[in-house]
Amino acid sequence: MTQPRPGKLICVGTGMRMAGQLTPLARSYIETADVVVAAVPNRFARKWLQDIAKEYICLLDYYADCDIEGKNRHDTYRRMSATILEEVRSGKTVCAAFYGHPGIFACIAHMAIKAARAEGYDAEMLPGISAEDCLVADIGIDPGATGMQSMEATQFMMFERKLDPTALLVLWQPYIAGDLTRKRFDTTAARLQVLVDKLARDYPLDHPVILYEAATNPLETPRMDTIALRDLPNAVLNGITTLVIPAAYNLKRDQAVVDQLNALPEALPELAQTA
Ligand SMILES: C[S@@+](CC[C@H](N)C(=O)[O-])C[C@H]1O[C@@H](n2cnc3c(N)ncnc32)[C@H](O)[C@@H]1O
Repeated sequence: MTQPRPGKLICVGTGMRMAGQLTPLARSYIETADVVVAAVPNRFARKWLQDIAKEYICLLDYYADCDIEGKNRHDTYRRMSATILEEVRSGKTVCAAFYGHPGIFACIAHMAIKAARAEGYDAEMLPGISAEDCLVADIGIDPGATGMQSMEATQFMMFERKLDPTALLVLWQPYIAGDLTRKRFDTTAARLQVLVDKLARDYPLDHPVILYEAATNPLETPRMDTIALRDLPNAVLNGITTLVIPAAYNLKRDQAVVDQLNALPEALPELAQTA
């Protein structure tokens, strides 16, 4: 078996709220890695990371690349991943830190890990507490009750997606809903109206939807504003808003399958044991 090359990548998540949501394992990598490369927007979290890291590289300025003609968010993500890789190639143990979960609606960590492994380096991702974890706890919705669909708002708008309005729907990044340039960091009432029109194929316009923002420090309380779907175009959407759409209808029993299951012979006890 070939030995991994010197240089290693560990991608960690800091949770949504730094105090208390960072796992002990992630913290230990942040403290012991040769360098921490991070895209953490919260300035208190960033300062804390800078203080405990041996060396710190901030990736946030790379978002300004979107202002350059011909470049968009994907160029920014590729450049972030390339910076992480450069550090790994120099033989360092690199801890790449992202807020929330490093791999949930966060393509940079996935790109960097794939590239590092392709070049023969050890690379892994540690899970973190994501916005979705926080909303389950704050709003008090169990995804197991109805099932859950979770997707990016613009992706939902751009592609043919089949929604199930008997399940919970989580739409990420509604603040840039409908931005086809992948350069902007805002949306408009007109684009949100297009989103509402598409959702209205499956949901009534008076269906309650929740604008959710997890607390990002221990002194904040989460935002959980319930509005009617039709009012979304005039709602205040921030970079940290997630749109939560509870099920609109009760689950409908699939009687044909239930009948099929009932018609199956009961498993014999001795056969069940060896299965
Ligand atoms: C690029 S994704 C990052 C998600 C992050 N990796 C995670 O694990 O939650 C950005 C989107 O995550 C959601 N988000 C980020 N911060 C949030 C917060 N404090 N509360 C609720 N949703 C948040 C919003 O939908 C936002 O547009």
